[in-house]
Order: sequence, then structure tokens, then C-alpha cells
Amino acid sequence: MSEPTETLQRVIYSSRVTPGGAFQVSEILETSRRNNAALGVTGALLVSGPYFAQVLEGPPAAVEEIFERIQCDARHEQITVLEVASPSARAFGDWTMGFAEEREDAAGAALLDPAAASGLLDRLKTALTNTAASRRRHA
Ligand SMILES: Cc1cc2nc3c(=O)[nH]c(=O)nc-3n(C[C@H](O)[C@H](O)[C@H](O)COP(=O)(O)O)c2cc1C
Repeated sequence: MSEPTETLQRVIYSSRVTPGGAFQVSEILETSRRNNAALGVTGALLVSGPYFAQVLEGPPAAVEEIFERIQCDARHEQITVLEVASPSARAFGDWTMGFAEEREDAAGAALLDPAAASGLLDRLKTALTNTAASRRRHA
């Protein structure tokens, strides 16, 4: 999916589930996989207790469009941008939206700390690899 010459943008953010809301993460993943595939966006979503961290990567206009929508989504709040970068290659090129879940612990809340950006890509890659049931490479 990643051409060496394509211009890429990567956004990493974290957020917290809006208290009192009820939804299935599977709904988010379904929507993400459909929309992201259509726009050439890849990435990964980490759910750690009530906290999210997500990596979105792809053509800048597409990443911005999707991130705008995500920011308006009432299912989460405290959206904290951890990194905006122009990487030379995709970190999750095989995933329209990889998914990893961690049980709730202190590491979840720490995702809202801007310092969480450091090491998050590796943490996500490891978590994806270790969560075999959620491993769904896009076609
Ligand atoms: C934590 C979180 C992550 C999301 N990630 C994506 C995503 O990667 N791509 C996407 O299209 N929508 C994502 N959404 C859903 C969007 O906020 C929005 O509901 C969706 O894009 C609407 O698409 P639709 O008009 O096709 O239903 C996410 C929502 C949440 C709460």
C-alpha cells in the first residue's frame, strides 16, 4: 500500500471514552476499516481500559478529513494530539485499522500525557502482533 514516493502524514492522538456512553469498539472498527480503506488511510487503535490511542497515516488531506470527524465524535473526549509527523513510510501499512486491547491499568491514563507519544508506535506494533484474534490485514 505504501509507495516510496507518496507524501504521508501521521497523526497520533489519545482520548478517553465519554462517561455514560455505551458503544461497541467493533462498530468503530467496522466504520474505520470501510472509510480508511476508501481514503488510503492505515493505522492502529489501542484500547486501554477507558482510554484510546490511535495512529492514522496516509495522504495528508485524507488523514485530516478522518481526524476531523473523529474529533467531533461524542463517544470520546479529552482528545490529545500526541504527534503530527511526515514519516517517509507507513508504520501500519498492512492495516486499515489494526486493533489492540490492553486491560485497564496505569498505562491507560498515561496515554493522555503528551509524553506518551514516545514509544507508542512500538507499543502498538507489539500489541497488534500479540493480539492474534484481532489480526486482520486488509486485502
Ligand atoms: C476512538 C475512535 C476512533 C475512530 N477511528 C475512525 C477511523 O479511523 N476512521 C473513521 O472513518 N472513523 C473513525 N471513527 C468514527 C468517526 O468518529 C465517525 O463516526 C465516522 O467516521 C463516521 O463515518 P460514517 O459517516 O461512514 O458512519 C472513530 C471514532 C472513535 C470514537
